[in-house]
Amino acid sequence: MYKTIGIVTGGGDAPGLNAVIRAVVKTAAGEYGMRVIGIEDSFEGLLGETRTRDLRPEHVRGLLPRGGTILGTRNRGQFVVRTNEGQLVKPEDVYREAITNLEKLGIEGLVVLGGEGTLAIAAEFDRLGFPVIGVPKTIDNDLACTELTFGFVTALDIATEALDRLHTTAESHDRVMILEVMGRHTGWIALHSGIAGGADVILMPEIPFTMQAVAEKIRERDRCGSEFTIIVAAEGASEAGGELIYQDKGDPAHAPRLGGVGNYCRAELEQLTGKETRCVVLGHLQRGGRPNAFDRMLATNFGACAVRAFAKGERSVMVALQAADIVTVPISEAIANIKTVPPDGQLVGTARATGISFGSPDEASYHTSKGTEPCV
Ligand code: F6P
Repeated sequence: MYKTIGIVTGGGDAPGLNAVIRAVVKTAAGEYGMRVIGIEDSFEGLLGETRTRDLRPEHVRGLLPRGGTILGTRNRGQFVVRTNEGQLVKPEDVYREAITNLEKLGIEGLVVLGGEGTLAIAAEFDRLGFPVIGVPKTIDNDLACTELTFGFVTALDIATEALDRLHTTAESHDRVMILEVMGRHTGWIALHSGIAGGADVILMPEIPFTMQAVAEKIRERDRCGSEFTIIVAAEGASEAGGELIYQDKGDPAHAPRLGGVGNYCRAELEQLTGKETRCVVLGHLQRGGRPNAFDRMLATNFGACAVRAFAKGERSVMVALQAADIVTVPISEAIANIKTVPPDGQLVGTARATGISFGSPDEASYHTSKGTEPCV
């Protein structure tokens, strides 16, 4: 059994990171007598003059409800270099330096809290001989092999509250209100919050939309006496045959950043329908602040199970939620492909059945073929 393990947080922050850190420290110390060393500023803290801190149970008091990560998360693009041609390269000398430093620190295994990008870095450490266990973190919920990632449900709460608040102002002014939410190339946040927040239209990457179909939904609502419309748009949504919209194209250290589809739709829909239309970009409010009760519980369970996995001799796995239990799955499987929303899945069907439009061109025929009354 390892005497000392490290813990590192990578990628964008998500509510529940500190709750995982707390659970890892408490389980490692309390159940196995292991020492835990926190790596600061993500994997960057393992290069040059290392930046680490001892984490004992007294250091993690009060961490459960705290947002962000006490260890920091930074990406200077040293572990994954983006070439001018857009290729991603993992320079072995950088990993070797980090592994040498881990060994100098007496760290025998690393718990890595991250999404797909961070876990791909973790997998490279493992390939080069250093044991890792992954913990699935992202508000986007786009990691494969786990039903949920921690942070997602808190983000949903925030998006749902935003939709509730937009309802009352939209209704008062007879306006169209668009809420742009995060999610990268998946529509999990948009779909779940759209259903929970009673949106009229959900735009998401998995179902390309047409502006005409969305405009028709707005007109249909007007005809039925609801002169306002609430639209939730995932940042990765795009028009059928159209392109993704980016707020910036990225640089060698950073991936391109999605954003802008909400404002694009705002201008187009205002022109098509003649109705006053406003857009709110929810942005990092979805990531900041306290995790909700569910994410505190999930993060704690993930953290404890990650330490137990190391204690059982597992490596190169990610803890995952499957059928209400925490299991372990090979990291390689978790990072092979992102988990997208099944466009013909049950939840999309439920959304449609309750009158939500996805702005897809075939939608009118969907309603007629199902015999749905227009004013639902
Ligand atoms: O992956 C989490 C996420 O919040 C995405 O939803 C979003 O596209 C991205 O990170 C934003 O990244 P940044 O914080 O670098 O702007």
